[in-house]
Amino acid sequence: MNNITRYTRLQQKLHWAVVALVALQYLLQRPVKSAMSHEHDGLDLGAIEFLVITIHTWGGAAVGAIMVYRLYLRVKRPVPVGAGTLRGAWQRLAQGVHWSFYALLLFMPITGMLHYYVGLHSVAHWHEWGEWLLLALILLHVVAALAHHVYKKDATLRQMWGSRPPH
Ligand code: HEM
Ligand code: HEM
Repeated sequence: MNNITRYTRLQQKLHWAVVALVALQYLLQRPVKSAMSHEHDGLDLGAIEFLVITIHTWGGAAVGAIMVYRLYLRVKRPVPVGAGTLRGAWQRLAQGVHWSFYALLLFMPITGMLHYYVGLHSVAHWHEWGEWLLLALILLHVVAALAHHVYKKDATLRQMWGSRPPH
């Protein structure tokens, strides 16, 4: 029987670091697209454009690396979804969303790198497609987390935000 009830402080920090990095990718969506297309057309890049591209490529690669490490921590020490309150289809849905995040946040850096560094332009539309799928999953995830906290009033959000994780 699994009696672990919350994420470690390290898992919490990594979760919120990824949230911040992914938010940055979306906030910089337009400038990234325009800087990337200038670079693609062989135009000289300004300092801001260079910075925006660097944040996108290195930030995205950092997300991928963090997700690999999180996956290792997650497999080594599973925490029950929804603070152990979910059963049946709801439990499977929550697990499905979490595993999809791992898959998508590896898929995005891989397709991005194949496009940017290897010049494989055919994967560009996969990167764009992944962007929308990721956004939809984030919305679902945030609504679910807030519903647990506000309506069900259980420990789900505190598992990821709590002040007294085991270590
Ligand atoms: C970029 C946005 C986000 C991503 C990619 C993301 C990703 C994830 C992943 C992969 C997990 C599963 C952790 C594991 O089992 O190892 C998780 C759990 C969790 N996240 Fe997020 N998250 C995001 C935003 C948020 C936000 C904004 C909130 C709060 C409103 C939140 C609250 C939670 C909570 C409470 C859990 C624990 C859920 C449970 O144990 O059932 N997340 N998140
Ligand atoms: C978590 C990881 C990542 C996320 C969430 C992400 C998300 C995005 C977003 C929102 C755009 C905006 C452009 C649009 O709407 O068409 C974009 C474009 C782009 N990204 Fe990423 N990205 C990630 C990682 C990477 C990495 C690691 C690279 C390369 C090293 C990369 C290369 C590109 C390229 C080349 C474009 C321009 C595509 C175009 O002009 O259509 N991405 N990405």
